Order: sequence, then structure tokens, then C-alpha cells
Amino acid sequence: MGDRGRRLEFLIFGSPAIGEEEIAEVVATLRSGWLGTGPRVQRFEEDFRVYVGCGHAVALNSCTAGLHLALEVLGIGPGDEVITSPLTFSATANVIVHVGATPVFADVDPRTMNLDPEALARAVTPRTKAILPVHLAGRPCDMDALLQVARRHGVAVVEDAAHAVEARYRGRSVGSIGDLTAFSFYVTKNLVTGEGGMLTTDNAAWAEEIRIKALHGISRDAWKRYSAEGFQPYDTLFPGYKYNMTDLQAALGIHQLARLESNLAIRERHWRQYDAALADHPLLTTPSPVDPRDRHARHLYTVLVDTERAGMSRNEFMVRLKAENIGTGIHFTPLHLHSYYAKTLGFRRGQFPAAEFIGDRTVSLPLSAKLTDEDVEDVITAVRRVLEA
Ligand SMILES: Cc1ncc(COP(=O)(O)O)c(C=O)c1O
Repeated sequence: MGDRGRRLEFLIFGSPAIGEEEIAEVVATLRSGWLGTGPRVQRFEEDFRVYVGCGHAVALNSCTAGLHLALEVLGIGPGDEVITSPLTFSATANVIVHVGATPVFADVDPRTMNLDPEALARAVTPRTKAILPVHLAGRPCDMDALLQVARRHGVAVVEDAAHAVEARYRGRSVGSIGDLTAFSFYVTKNLVTGEGGMLTTDNAAWAEEIRIKALHGISRDAWKRYSAEGFQPYDTLFPGYKYNMTDLQAALGIHQLARLESNLAIRERHWRQYDAALADHPLLTTPSPVDPRDRHARHLYTVLVDTERAGMSRNEFMVRLKAENIGTGIHFTPLHLHSYYAKTLGFRRGQFPAAEFIGDRTVSLPLSAKLTDEDVEDVITAVRRVLEA
């Protein structure tokens, strides 16, 4: 297959695998007349709670909403600092700004690309109120080491598990380890509801407050207000948000969750295909093996391009792959180099060398349960051809 020609159809990066069950459930939801937050959201929350093995799961309209509410429920605000990884999506740090606190970055471990526990320990100050590790690409962070730092300083742990629904650390599911964990069901993620997220915690009081704050801060949700249980006037307990998930989204989520493990098995197969073909390539660094005690959620297959020896920038590599009809992604350009963070907090290049090294060279290759082995073979062929040109 290595001598195949240029792929004829563009291969979209991160296309979702949607089955007939999801389609039928969405249609049934439309026919039911209940489009808002209702019985399907309740079922999805319970199924997800059981999957993760945590006390409470609250469905939301995004992971960003979950991270925001997690910081709010912890009472984090002006004057407080939250430490996170610079190698993440904008939302991870934006929510820290939303609650009025200051984002503090600590560099990543170059091998795992996750928050380095030693860098984290050095970044703690008397103002630190929480740490916000990101399970990048689906690889679980070294939670024992991170929790040790957090517990030593009495600060909370909020996990960004946008990439890591199926991840496990030392046998425990991500979502049942830190104080609060937020998941994303955005279109490119391992579990897709179009837009959507889930916040998990073992703390019943926090879960209740999150549930209320996610729907305007009012005392009862619409489903109960208008159901056969009888009319209940509502009361505003907090100035809440409009962060609730709808039954239309949950209709997708219920079946996506049921197929999560079989979809992971497909991505694991694609991962092995990439490893077998690319791990020895002299111009690439493929993802390091995962600790055998843990489970990687296989969300992103990221390679580092040796830009110096390849004689091309990472961006040029992506442009050439696009010309081969292969879509790719960048995860991520470190946040301290983004305009807002550089300008308002005075960050400069050179402060987080491991994140910068990765940020300059990383490319995510297509990885989705929708891909066929031939699609993956096309990517491999194109990558080789671009690097050999
Ligand atoms: C690491 C990370 N955190 C948070 C988010 C935000 O997720 P959502 O779009 O569900 O708010 C994303 C989304 O792409 C992400 O990649």
C-alpha cells in the first residue's frame, strides 16, 4: 500500500463516528416533544456516573462550562491563583480568568506532555487555590505525584479530561480521582454530543450547587416544573448560567457511551498501525508508550516533526499534508504565547521550554473510530512522502 497515489478525497481530521442508534434516538427525542433538559439527560448522567465510578455526574453544554463551575463551586476568585499546563486549549486557562483568578503555568514533562509534578511544586505560592491538570491527548497525568503536591499545600484538584473519557490511572477511571473532573463531548472528541460536557465529583453538595448554577441558579429544573409531578414555582438561589445539556444532545450521548469501548478498540488498532509504520522514522518522534498500569484514551496521535533535519517548519509539513488530502491538527500552541496571556500576564518565549519545544513541532494525525485501516494507511503514505520529498 506504500506505493498508493495521492488520496482522492480529503480526509477530515477528527470526524465523529455516529451510528444508527444515535440517529434513531434523536428522532425519537424529536417525536417525544421533550427537547430540553429531561429524562434522556438524566439517563445519560446515570450511565456516565456508572461508567466512571464516581458519586455524581452533571451533564452540561460543554467542558468549558464544567471547568468554570468547578472553579466557582470551590470559591476561587480574585487574588487566587490556579496552576495549569500551558500545553492546552484556550478554555482551560480562560475559565480561570472568568472567575477573576490568575492563571499560573507550570511546564510539562517532555515525555508525557502532561504537567510536570516538579514544575508544579515550584509554581505553588500562598495564593494557589487549585491545580488544573490536563490529560493531554488522552494520556492520564501522574495523578499520585500531582495529588501529593496538592494535598501538601491543601489545594483542590480540578481535572481537564476533555480528551480522556476512557483513561484510567492505576486502575481508577479519570473522573473518580481529583475533586472535580470536566469532560468534553465536542464534535471531535471520543464521545460526541455535538456540543456537550460532563462534570463529575464525589461531593454531593458541590454536585447539587453545580446542577442549580448550570440552569440559571433556580431551585428546580424545567422538567420537574412542567411534569406530571405538579407545578412548583421556582426561586433564584444564585445568579446562575445557561449551561444545561438538552435531551437532543443526551440522545447522542447515551449511544455514544454504549459504544465507547468498541470505538476505543478501533482507535487502539489505528494507533498500533501508526506506531508500527512511523515509530522508527528518523524525522519523527511518535507518542511515548503509556505506563502499563494505566490506560490511554487514545484521543490524539501526535507526532513531533524534527523540523531542523526535515528542513521544513511544522506548519509547512501540515500544508504539504493538506496538499496530499490529509487533514491534521495542532495540540497545542502553548497558551503563554497567545496574545491575551502574553500581553496581560507578561509571558515570554523561553519560560516553558518543554511546552514550547512540543508546541513548535507537534502535529496530530487523523484518529477516529470512523477511519478505516486504508484511511490510516493513506495518512502513513502521505507522511512518508512529504518527509522524503
Ligand atoms: C484540553 C481541552 N480542554 C477543554 C476543552 C473545551 O471543551 P468544550 O469545547 O467542550 O468546552 C477542549 C476542547 O477542545 C480541550 O481540548
